[in-house]
Amino acid sequence: MSLDLVSTLPYDSITSLVRKAAYGLVTTCILGTAVYAGYRVALPEKHLIKRHRHPELNDQIEKVLDSLKISDEQLIHMMHILEEEMNAGLSPVTHKKASVKMFPTYVRNIPNGTEVGQVLALDLGGTNFRVLLIDLHGNSKIELTSKIFVIPQSTMIGDGKHLFRHLAECLEEFMQKENILNSGTCYPLGFTFSFPCQQESLASARLTAWTKGFSCSGVVNEDVVKLLQEAINEKGINAKCVSLVNDTVGTLMACAYKDPSTAIGLILGTGTNACYIESLDRVGTWNGDYNEPKQVIINTEWGAFGDNGRLKHLRTKYDEEIDISSINPGKQIFEKMISGMYMGEIVRLIILDLLQHELLFLGHRDTYSDYKAALYNRGGFYTKFVSTVETDEGIKFSNTRRVLEDIGIQNPTYDDCAIVQHICRQVSKRAARLAGAGLAVLINRIGKSNITAGVDGSLYRFHPRFKRNMERCMETLVNKDIKFKLTLSDDGSGKGAAMVACVAERIFEHDKETADYETLTKSLIN
Ligand code: GLC
Repeated sequence: MSLDLVSTLPYDSITSLVRKAAYGLVTTCILGTAVYAGYRVALPEKHLIKRHRHPELNDQIEKVLDSLKISDEQLIHMMHILEEEMNAGLSPVTHKKASVKMFPTYVRNIPNGTEVGQVLALDLGGTNFRVLLIDLHGNSKIELTSKIFVIPQSTMIGDGKHLFRHLAECLEEFMQKENILNSGTCYPLGFTFSFPCQQESLASARLTAWTKGFSCSGVVNEDVVKLLQEAINEKGINAKCVSLVNDTVGTLMACAYKDPSTAIGLILGTGTNACYIESLDRVGTWNGDYNEPKQVIINTEWGAFGDNGRLKHLRTKYDEEIDISSINPGKQIFEKMISGMYMGEIVRLIILDLLQHELLFLGHRDTYSDYKAALYNRGGFYTKFVSTVETDEGIKFSNTRRVLEDIGIQNPTYDDCAIVQHICRQVSKRAARLAGAGLAVLINRIGKSNITAGVDGSLYRFHPRFKRNMERCMETLVNKDIKFKLTLSDDGSGKGAAMVACVAERIFEHDKETADYETLTKSLIN
């Protein structure tokens, strides 16, 4: 048929057809090559780094970064160690010495959406402090107003009394603004206090250690609910702290409000930590009753995993340097390998190392001697830069260039950008894999067929591939018969705290005479 067609066509038309076909073929080839080249360029790390103009340097760079790589086998081994450490935290015999404390929270169950009431919440634990007013309408409807306050660095490391006074002042300012300061009503208040605490009930919690850059005097071993209430009373504010929760617990609660298969709360922000629902028969340290529901939320405080040296084999010289120059050396070892407070600093240390070995910023050797530049200062490479750099796809590196200029590298080359992006990817991928492995331990331990983990924190929220990297490694590490899901928890530390406070208050009011908080927490059940 086609031959017939050709034979019936005049010669000119045939030439033109052949020309067109050839042209089409060439165009397709060019386009195809371009698309493939684009694909290669957009491909992660390896392809980019291999384009370095000095190929012999690639191997040396890879060698430096090799220390960050953790294989699946190593992750599986780490999971076994974490499980042992968790069991040590839950046993009354070993709890005192255990690194992973596994604190029972006295929250026995998750909300069901029918909780109603108006409560205040304070959220302290990261770089900002928030005050919230929350209306729970039942039927899973929540209204919320909030204000962020800054905690000055001097307050974070100053006198504890001053810290709590500052919190009370912020609360007063917020209540004034909301016109509820002199309303004659005593507002129940839920306190999200995101530091390790040994709880004795829902409304009493002793701080065991400060983490994440806080180190106020006179607070460790004290009941922080009491300290807060004293500061509130001192100011004559009409509010009563009825419950304290960790941010992980708030996150679990807020997520469970919408999805009842939620059994884990995870934070990946300034710090990292997870909580989960554990059966009472596995909580040797439990001192409450064994009535239904035979479960309690455990705040793992997994950030301290490795404080006894058990993660030594996975740590790099950069991790050691971060630890030594921190305000809590030897503490929060797992957290220091993962969370936002430290990630940018790890990247900065690696960049400096490569620079000193003349593997990076080669074109800047003469001009790059400004030791006042951010790159030379501790904290000079923010964790948000890691996210920014990793949002660059392809070869333009517009975000990476901007970041490098911010830290003092003017006119960075293509190679400079590619290498810095490669470093960021390696550091954040390691963090995601470590967090994913930790989460896999909890999921396998819970063992239900459908498990949702509520997740919050700036690192998880803003990093372009953290979630994906976590999920990828978890597909290998989670038992095959379990379906898991990571859900971004919407403002858990505020809403979750409010839910707990709401139920606490209702029962407290209902049975003022006999209110014991254990009974009370059981009501977060039905
Ligand atoms: C730190 C705190 C922990 C908190 C976590 C996330 O690890 O010790 O209580 O949950 O940061 O904010």
